[in-house]
Amino acid sequence: MILLSLKFTVRHESNHAHKHKLQQKFIIVSINMKALILSGGKGTRLRPITYTGAKQLVPVANKPILWYGIEGIVEAGITDIGIIISPETGKEVQELTGNGEKFGGNITYILQNQPAGLAHAVKIAQPFLGDSPFIMYLGDNIIESQLGQFVDTFKQKQLDALILLRKVSNPSAFGVAKVDNNGRVLELVEKPKIPPSNLALVGVYLFSKKIHNAVNKIKPSARGELEITDAIQYLIDQQISGVDNEIFVEASTLEGWWLDTGKKDDLLSANQIILDTRITNSINGEIDSQSQIIGRVKIGKNTKLINTSVRGPVIIGDNCYLENCFIGPYSSIADNVTLIDVDIEHSVILQGAKIIEINQRIVDSLLGRRAKLINALQRPKALRFMIGDDSQIELT
Ligand code: DAU
Repeated sequence: MILLSLKFTVRHESNHAHKHKLQQKFIIVSINMKALILSGGKGTRLRPITYTGAKQLVPVANKPILWYGIEGIVEAGITDIGIIISPETGKEVQELTGNGEKFGGNITYILQNQPAGLAHAVKIAQPFLGDSPFIMYLGDNIIESQLGQFVDTFKQKQLDALILLRKVSNPSAFGVAKVDNNGRVLELVEKPKIPPSNLALVGVYLFSKKIHNAVNKIKPSARGELEITDAIQYLIDQQISGVDNEIFVEASTLEGWWLDTGKKDDLLSANQIILDTRITNSINGEIDSQSQIIGRVKIGKNTKLINTSVRGPVIIGDNCYLENCFIGPYSSIADNVTLIDVDIEHSVILQGAKIIEINQRIVDSLLGRRAKLINALQRPKALRFMIGDDSQIELT
C-alpha cells in the first residue's frame, strides 16, 4: 500500500515534491526485497552428468554454479532467498547448500513437482514471495556484474519488471527481446526460429508484485511450459493497451560476461573465466621437491603432489593424489581425485574421479563424479569401455 501511494505522489509531482522525495528515499531503502533462485528443471543438456546430480551443483572452479548466484544476491543486500527445487535433485541441493547461514542469508526451499516453466516457478513461490518485489535468478547462470546496480535501478525507477539483455551470436537459443530506438521493450519471444534481434534475455529478472497477476493470466506455451517471457509480455501489453498505465517494464544492457552453463562447452568457458578472474594463490597439502607450481594455483588440504607440474590458473581440491602429471591452465580438479601419469588441460574433473596412465593429453573434457579412465597397458591392443547413456568420447 505504502509503495503504491508513493508511486502516485512521486510520478505526479505535487507541491510537496521535496518532502515526498525524502519520504520516497526512506521507504525505498526499507522495501524488503526477496530473491527467487530457480534450481529445478531437468538439465537435459548436461547429460550424462545430470542423470545423477543437479546441473546447478556442477562445480565451476570447484564451487557449485548455484552458489555464485546466492553469493551475488547476498552481496546485493538481499538475504531472504527462496530456492525452487525438483523432486529428483532437490534433496542434494538442500543438503549441500543448507539454510543459507554460510552465505549470510536465509533460504526457504520450494518444491516444484514438474519443470512446468519459469513462470510456473513464480506461481508456486507466491506464498513465499507475498507482495515483496523480488529478483529472480536462474540457478545455472553466472554473471560478472554485481547485482546491486540492477536492484538500485529497479528500486529508484519503481519498475514492475527489469530485464537484462545481452547481445549474442545465437539468439535462437534464448528468450529474445525486440526494443525500440529508446530501448523500450516491445516484444519478447522465447527461443524464436527467426529472432527479432540479437538481444538475449539473461537469466536475471527483477519484478514487483504485479508479475503474479500476469503469471496467473498466461497459458502454457507450445512446449507446454508457463513462460516468464509471456508473463512479461502480458505486463507490456497491459501498459501499451492502456489497461494499466502504471506498469513500468524496462531493460538494462548487461556489460561484462554472462554464462549460461547449460552445455559442456559453456561450463568449460565458465570455468576458464572464473579461474582467470577469481583464483588467488593458496597452496596447502604436500608438494614434493620434484614438483613445480607456476602461476596462480590453489591446492586444498591433504592433497599430495609427486613429480607433478601445475601451470595456473588451476584449482585442485582436498584429498587428491597426483603423481607424474602435468596439469595445464584452466583445469579444475575437485576433492578426492587421483591422477597418475596424466597430462591434462582446460578440463573439469569432478569428485572422486580417477585417471591413470593416459598417454595422450586430455583437453576440453568434463569427467563426472567417481568416473574412471584407466589404461591397463602402455600400448593398449584394445579399448574396453563402460560408458553411460549420452556420454561422449572423442579420440582426436
Ligand atoms: O539463460 C537464459 C535463458 O534462460 C533465457 O534467455 C530464456 O528466456 C529462459 O527461458 C531460460 O532458458 P533456458 O532454456 O536456459 O531455461 P532452462 O530450462 O535451462 O531453465 C533455467 C533454470 O531454471 C535452470 O536452473 C532450471 C530452472 N528451472 C527450469 C524450469 C523450466 C526450474 O527451476 N523450473 C522449471 O520449471
